[in-house]
Amino acid sequence: MKGKFITIEGPDGAGKTTQVKKISEYLKSKGYKVLVTREPGGTALGEKLREVLLSLDGESPVPEAEALIYAASRAQLVKKLIEPALEDGFIILCDRFVDSSLAYQGWARGLGIERLADINGWFLKDTWPDLTIVLDIDPALSLKRISGKKDRLEEEGLDFHRRVREGFLKLKALYPDRIKIVDAAQDSRQVFETILFELQKSGIINM
Ligand code: TYD
Repeated sequence: MKGKFITIEGPDGAGKTTQVKKISEYLKSKGYKVLVTREPGGTALGEKLREVLLSLDGESPVPEAEALIYAASRAQLVKKLIEPALEDGFIILCDRFVDSSLAYQGWARGLGIERLADINGWFLKDTWPDLTIVLDIDPALSLKRISGKKDRLEEEGLDFHRRVREGFLKLKALYPDRIKIVDAAQDSRQVFETILFELQKSGIINM
């Protein structure tokens, strides 16, 4: 694969979307070919599944169904968008990816990190991220940053979101080379600078 695959992860309200936008603008200004996408979603089918996953109306999926619907959205994104863009030499920035499933469904919902890695590993093969930035923040703080109507996952209590954070920190121990933890309680400029430094250190960009 000629391109590079970067994922940005972290709890709800950690500021991922803002950082993805800033990094994308920066990389484009330096002449890189950049593709921005997100999960769940990123494809027409994925966006439909996103609605199913985040809606508060109707029947909620059981944890096992939830894990498989996220995986279905991911499989579609990988085959339709990510693999071709990597072949084409793009730097892909994805707002959430497989580590969200490992932390939310695997750890916080209790389905098992290893089981979720197996399910996703089935179709990921060579498309595990080259670098994953986890924006780490106390959920008591990040949940306060969420404005407007909360979605189904954001409606979960503080204990759930504490387990999500714990899950991401466990993933750092499991994948120490791929995953970098960045303190997201800093101001957004500092967070951005730290991410750029990580991109440089990992050899993804030259500055
Ligand atoms: P999103 O709206 O991107 O999150 P944010 O509120 O941080 O912008 O993500 C939707 C929710 O889906 C979020 O609460 C995390 C959750 N999620 C999982 O539980 N498992 C997954 O595999 C993914 C990709 C997301």
